[in-house]
This record gives sequence, structure tokens and C-alpha cells, in this order.
Amino acid sequence: MVNSNEDYDRNDDLKRFDESKAGVKGLVDAGHTTIPRIFIHPAETLSDLKPVSDTPSETIPVIDLSGFDSDRRASLVDQVNRAARDYGFFQVVNHGIPQANLDRTIAAVKAFHEQPAEARAGFYKREGGAGFSYMSNVDLYQSKAASWRDTMTVRLGPTDPRLWDHVPEICRDAVAEWDREVVRLGGLLLDLAGEGLGLGAGSLRELSCLEGRIMVGHYYPYCPQPHLTVGLGSHADPGVLTVLLQDHMGGLQVKSGGVWVDVKPVPGAIVINVGDLLQIMSNDVYKSVDHRVLANSCQEPRVSIAVFLNPSKRDELYGPLPELILPEKPALYQHFTFSEFMHRFFTKELDNKSLKNYFRI
Ligand code: OGA
Ligand code: NI
Repeated sequence: MVNSNEDYDRNDDLKRFDESKAGVKGLVDAGHTTIPRIFIHPAETLSDLKPVSDTPSETIPVIDLSGFDSDRRASLVDQVNRAARDYGFFQVVNHGIPQANLDRTIAAVKAFHEQPAEARAGFYKREGGAGFSYMSNVDLYQSKAASWRDTMTVRLGPTDPRLWDHVPEICRDAVAEWDREVVRLGGLLLDLAGEGLGLGAGSLRELSCLEGRIMVGHYYPYCPQPHLTVGLGSHADPGVLTVLLQDHMGGLQVKSGGVWVDVKPVPGAIVINVGDLLQIMSNDVYKSVDHRVLANSCQEPRVSIAVFLNPSKRDELYGPLPELILPEKPALYQHFTFSEFMHRFFTKELDNKSLKNYFRI
């Protein structure tokens, strides 16, 4: 076959993989000891991979939320403000969510991904129409290389009672319970983050930032050639805040000061990060930073669950908030509707995109 057919072949391979509806998990179960070519990343990505280190040089902040409703609140606002400004990422402990709920949520997402391939296949689709979908690589057909991960997605908000009919029973109750916890914790963090910007209490909630919730339950199976691919390519999250629950496996890395820093699993902790929209609304006070997940080199699969907090008012205009536009610091971004913003997001591949720069003045 001649070279000009290379792209055609790749498309064929992508389609065959997609139509198997079994995800990366299906490849691992079939006993592959090498990864298919569609997963091999370009040299510039591979040369920058940095295995999880045993001797952490730098760590992202861990904030103890106990006593958030007491006289510690001012100190918490300060800690969240500093972490969101300097790192864009932090972990929270003593957040009030019992360990049993964290374990149950991870177990439910894992159970979904580990049911027989035939059962998973019934949910495999690229359109999230009914509010639930399962697929491998949301940007499979847009990216230069596929990543070693499968994902289930639940459109949690705006609240639609019919959603639950579409969520598979194997994880339904746990996902519904997790959503309640995320609304509580996410609401508190939006308040703390907003107060740190000098906004009135509840401002970010009033902008509907807690209402448009998308949950992704990622499954990163064992990868036989982790030096040739990634679990999740480098990206920044588009929304306002992300609430991420990761298991004990590790592999998440954040770009800090030009180097990749491991977000080490801390038992019981929840990872929080600033998205592009919050960086924009804060007129660059808070930072949305690039992060990625290495391909999993261990036999045990890694599971993580992210809930993206987005505005539900998709047709309202978003941009730097008036309180943060100052004579000495004019607006750094244009205004846009959230629909327009997300349209931009989904027309590019996830890897290395810079959504915020698109709207920068
Ligand atoms: C994401 C993400 C990290 C992880 O879904 O946007 O960054 O640990 N996930 O899976
Ligand atoms: Ni992310």
C-alpha cells in the first residue's frame, strides 16, 4: 500500500477500534502485549514523559477544610485564593464526605467498566443525547494519537429527573449520591474562591456555575507500552472548577513552573482545579493550568472521576467580571456565550489546546 493511503488506514483502524465498542479495556482483555499504532504518540510528547517520581520535588497544596463554617473561614478563603492563584490545583481533606462514599463511587465506576464487554457495548456511543454515554477517547477522531483510557460520561446538570432512567443500574445510586456530595462541596469551594476574588458571597453560584455539571468516570487499564502513549493528554479544563476523585494509583501530573509535578494520591483527599472559564472570569487572577495522566504501567487499573462545574446559562455572556476589571488592569478577554466557548472546545483535539488564548484580547 502506498504512503498516501496512510491517513486512510489510520481512519480505518480508528473506526474498527470504535466499532468494537469494547474500549481500551477490550484490547487489554484480548491479551495484546503491544499497543495498536493509533495509540502511539508523536516523539515530542513521548520525549517529555516523566515517570511518577519517588522523591517529590514539589507538591501542590493540601487544604484542610475542617471548620469551614467557623472562624477559620477567612483563613480558608486565603488558602484557596493562594492555591488558585499560584498553582491552579490543590487537594482538600476533611471535606466532610465519608471515606465510604469515596470508595463506593470509585467502586461503582470501576464496576461499570469491568462488566462484560457485551453489557458495556450497549451504552457505547459518541452522542451524549440521553445524558449518559460510554466511549473511548472523546476526541478519538480529532486527535493525532489516541490515549489509553475509556470514559463514561453523565450529564448531571441542569437537573433532569429523566436522566436516571439512562444511567446504568450498576452505578446509578452511587453516581446520584456522588452528585449530591459534589454539589455541597463544589458550592463551598465556589464560595471560597469567589470570596477570595472579593466577590459577594454566592456570586459564582448566582452565575449558575454549580448547575451545569458533567461527570466523567475514567478507567485507565494496564498499558503494556506506557512509554509510547499517554492516559490523558496535556490539557486545561474548560469550565469553572473541577472536582476530581482519584484512586490510589497515581499518574496525574500538573505543569508547574515549567515542570511536570505529580499530584500524589492523598488518602481521603479530593483534587480541585481551576478551569479556563474561572481564569477568564477572574481576569487572570486565578490560573487554569495544564495537566495530564500518564499511561498506567501497573497491572491494576486506575479509576478517576471528574465533575466539571460549568454555568448552565449557556446563552448568557461570560468574560472578566466587572469587579475585576480595573483602570490598571483592563479586561484581558472578550465576552462570549458558554455555548460558543464549548463549541470551540469540541472542535479541537484535547491535547495541548489553549481555549483561553482564543478569547484573549
Ligand atoms: C479530566 C482530567 C484527570 C484524571 O478528566 O479533565 O484531567 O486524573 N482527569 O483522570
Ligand atoms: Ni482535566
